Amino acid sequence: MSLTRDKITQGTVAPRRDVPTSITRPEYVGRATAAEWQGGDVHDSETIERIRISAKIAAGALAEVGRNVRPGITTDELDRIGHEYVLDHGAYPSTLGYPGAAGRPPFPKALCTSVNEVICHGIPDSTVIEDGDIVKVDITAYKNNVHGDNCGSFIAGEGSPEARQLVEVTHEAMMRGIKAARIGREVNVIGRVIEKYATRFGYESVRNYTGHGVGPAFHTGLIIPHYDAAPMHDDVIEAGMVFTVEPMLCMGSEASHEWDDGWTVVTDDGSWVAQFEHTILITEDGAEVLTLP
Ligand code: MF3
Ligand code: CO
Ligand code: CO
Repeated sequence: MSLTRDKITQGTVAPRRDVPTSITRPEYVGRATAAEWQGGDVHDSETIERIRISAKIAAGALAEVGRNVRPGITTDELDRIGHEYVLDHGAYPSTLGYPGAAGRPPFPKALCTSVNEVICHGIPDSTVIEDGDIVKVDITAYKNNVHGDNCGSFIAGEGSPEARQLVEVTHEAMMRGIKAARIGREVNVIGRVIEKYATRFGYESVRNYTGHGVGPAFHTGLIIPHYDAAPMHDDVIEAGMVFTVEPMLCMGSEASHEWDDGWTVVTDDGSWVAQFEHTILITEDGAEVLTLP
């Protein structure tokens, strides 16, 4: 299965799905870049209550899409399921129309589907999922002017022992990173814990793509590394902060490149990758996971 599976290639991307005008769009939709967030990462309780709602919708959408990961389904069909779930809950799927790098097209779909050696930002298309594939689904919901962001890895069918271990270890790495997120520590402690755990299994943790502050902006500017970045990324964790922890662990080298679609990121060596992501809130008692269904 993982030994014979063909490399993932670009499929056909279906036309953009509609969003009713009754659903409020984030400010960046239809613009070349997202506005820079100036409001910091510590939020008042009223804002946090709104983020809870978006995070819960994102988590419900992720669970619904994940239930549908199976051999034979296309990644476009997974997009349809996630798109409809988010709209049905009165929210906007934050990735739809999210601006790309300079001169690149916006992201065209309601979620990212990143299969096997695709690290992240895979675009849902006509690609058919095969038995044993690792499908990362990353979906974000925007409602009441705030975003909630999460990602999970789902195996189609039973999966190889190697794929199952990678997925389990990546989930545990995320949870260890989340537990390390405590008031007064620098955010780089999160990456240190994640990378240490990954190394035990011979996995590499991706460096180029990171966690981030989230809430009133999709990406606030705060960066959460998933590797030991000290003395860099020394932002001190405070009560009321909201950010994501979203490690991507590779069976082989984490060295990566981007396809010419401007989005899809793959490992250079073709090694397979798993990812999990939660949006968390920092409290006096530690981190609270907000992206629970
Ligand atoms: N949800 C992703 C994250 O965790 C961002 C995806 S941006 C997209 O930050 F444009 F690629 F969809
Ligand atoms: Co995400
Ligand atoms: Co994220």
